[in-house]
Amino acid sequence: MIPSSVDRYPIPSEIRLWIIDSRQRIEVFHDRWDRPQIEQFVAADYELVYQSIAWMLDTQPLIGSRFLEWGCGFAVVSALASTFHLDVIGIEAETELLERAKQIVADWKVTVELVTGNFLPPGSESLADDPTLPSLGHQVASAYDSIGLELDDFAVVYSYPWPGEDDFHERVFANYAAPGAMLMQFCGPNDVRLWRKVGVQCCSAGRTERQ
Ligand SMILES: C[S@@+](CC[C@H](N)C(=O)[O-])C[C@H]1O[C@@H](n2cnc3c(N)ncnc32)[C@H](O)[C@@H]1O
Repeated sequence: MIPSSVDRYPIPSEIRLWIIDSRQRIEVFHDRWDRPQIEQFVAADYELVYQSIAWMLDTQPLIGSRFLEWGCGFAVVSALASTFHLDVIGIEAETELLERAKQIVADWKVTVELVTGNFLPPGSESLADDPTLPSLGHQVASAYDSIGLELDDFAVVYSYPWPGEDDFHERVFANYAAPGAMLMQFCGPNDVRLWRKVGVQCCSAGRTERQ
């Protein structure tokens, strides 16, 4: 269980400034965006995600140091994760978003590998029970070929699923991640979930319950 006290984990002042900066960048981008085919997303609670990563690293054994952000958008979480000395890769299908991610990584001077492509391992689309899920149908090549890694090479995967596709992300993770790997999901306000793959199944390691 991620304890409700996770929100008492300290957030360095520089990280707080980065998060404020990232929200402004995301708002400005959406305000001037003229291509409605890219769905707008509400910025995650990046403070809570940062604190949840800190809690996970303090309390959960990891099988390695590779951290993968599925659909990194502006790569805010990738950048935050990199401050914990994890080896971070962010995959994003939309090149316009990846350009913004590159700016953040450069401006904040963090080390994150950013890759254009599809975060779904080839064949995993068949695990979806709804063909209209937003993670499906991105006409970009699999990112795993270009990074030379598979999903089971990562110790931690982070995703912020669109509403209604959290189960699909869990199934993809359960089928393709390495045993012992962790999946962190931001599913909405006060709702960060953490799963560990045990054998071929996922066990919930925690879910925040902040009031
Ligand atoms: C809700 S946004 C989350 C953005 C970012 N992870 C965050 O927490 O701020 C979901 C992102 O995933 C991307 N995405 C959705 N499906 C994808 C796929 N199959 N492959 C790569 N990126 C995808 C979208 O373009 C979008 O940027």
